[in-house]
Amino acid sequence: MKLTNYIDGVWQEEAASYAAVLNPANGEELAQVPLSTEEEVGQAVAAAKKAQRKWALVPAPKRADYLYEIGRIMKDKKEHLAQVLTKEMGKVIEEARGEVQEGIDMAFYMAGEGRRLFGETVPSELQDKFAMSVRAPIGVVGLITPWNFPIAIATWKSFPAIVAGNTFIWKPATETPLMAYEMALIFEEAGLPHGVANIVFGSGSDVGTALIEHPDVRVISFTGSTETGRHVAELGGRHLKKISLEMGGKNAVIVLEDADIELAVEGILWSAFGTAGQRCTACSRVIVHKDVKEELQKRLLESMKGLTMGDGLDETVKVGPVINAKALEKIQSYIEIGKEEGANLVAGGHVLNEGKFATGHYFEPTLFADVAWDSRLAQEEIFGPVISLITVSSLDEAIEVNNSVAYGLSSSIFSQDVNKVFRAQRDLDTGIVYINAGTTGAEIHLPFGGTKGTGNGHRDSGVAALDVFTEWKSIYIDYSGKLQRAQIDTE
Ligand code: UN1
Repeated sequence: MKLTNYIDGVWQEEAASYAAVLNPANGEELAQVPLSTEEEVGQAVAAAKKAQRKWALVPAPKRADYLYEIGRIMKDKKEHLAQVLTKEMGKVIEEARGEVQEGIDMAFYMAGEGRRLFGETVPSELQDKFAMSVRAPIGVVGLITPWNFPIAIATWKSFPAIVAGNTFIWKPATETPLMAYEMALIFEEAGLPHGVANIVFGSGSDVGTALIEHPDVRVISFTGSTETGRHVAELGGRHLKKISLEMGGKNAVIVLEDADIELAVEGILWSAFGTAGQRCTACSRVIVHKDVKEELQKRLLESMKGLTMGDGLDETVKVGPVINAKALEKIQSYIEIGKEEGANLVAGGHVLNEGKFATGHYFEPTLFADVAWDSRLAQEEIFGPVISLITVSSLDEAIEVNNSVAYGLSSSIFSQDVNKVFRAQRDLDTGIVYINAGTTGAEIHLPFGGTKGTGNGHRDSGVAALDVFTEWKSIYIDYSGKLQRAQIDTE
């Protein structure tokens, strides 16, 4: 199937060039994705701009009705969407269902915002004067989404954009365009007015750059690597764009001496090897108290043996493939780095490429022990199924090690001691903190994002997402019939 761009409610003509979309589980070609240019971006922006004036005048509860409809259709198509997601991205089917559910949740949550979009009313310092703030739509916004959560992250950005009265151009990752195609079908079925949602497929360097540089695009909401995000911010900064960035992570689970070890093992396995470790929130460090290190390591190794690998469509499989050959190479390079740095490779560490694994991209769940907290293995994002075990002697040291990385997305602590847990949630320098659960599992109605190299102060999800897609407008209404000067005529 050859995909085409979706602009102004119309599926466009065939593109000049294409790239193949491959199933990471077996190399099968699923589709051809257009590699669009600046010209198509220009067309999409023009359509979005034209539609936006009208869209902004549609009352927000009415805009929200489209989201209710979108959510309903997604619910009806949940299994189909999950199947396509697994084929395209590789995550196991149970997780794919969870990701689609995350999108459905977002639809209904943001639809509710159509009847809130709260601003403030405040007293004026002057008599017969009224003061309030409202959330105004910003205009045309650009959404750049990654391949690891191709549907959930797209909903985190597009649904608040829609309910707030913006129109958008969405550039999905070239690895996962089918999810965007499926979403476009849903937008069509829901009757979303033409030009509100536009999809332009292509590379970051062509389509992404054109979006960032286009004078009519006011906001760029980006999720991806810190390296690319930095470039997006630099380029966008020159054009004074509002740039919302969601980037890398090097998330840690802390296991204290009083932890429920069995529970910690389950949490670590789920967070480290779910989505084959390709989550921004993936656990890639385990910071363990020395008194329980041996026990934790032993139990982790035992449990890792039960992680069946294979095609994520097989319901019994626990760990699917990674996205492509380049990802395998990167993971492999960190195995070498870890060994050179003197970390102790206690499980995994290999690409699987024989038998049923021959045509896919599979990397064994891997555990390094005795990792130095300041080594590259423990500091840099790997984006694969690799855990580094770091041993510490106290809670303070654990927190210090957690905070030593350049990122700050999520962290977790396993402990039964309420005092330690409360100190930890205060001192862990991450945007998300979990107590007695792994580092993944964010729910859509709280802000999602992180500190330091993970973000630039904005948040996806929750009410906070509306801050990205709205402009505050403060309105003063003087009904005294005379000139009243603020700060002066107050007596
Ligand atoms: C991501 O890894 O980019 O909390 C998003 C989680 C998911 C979202 C992850 N709900 O892991």
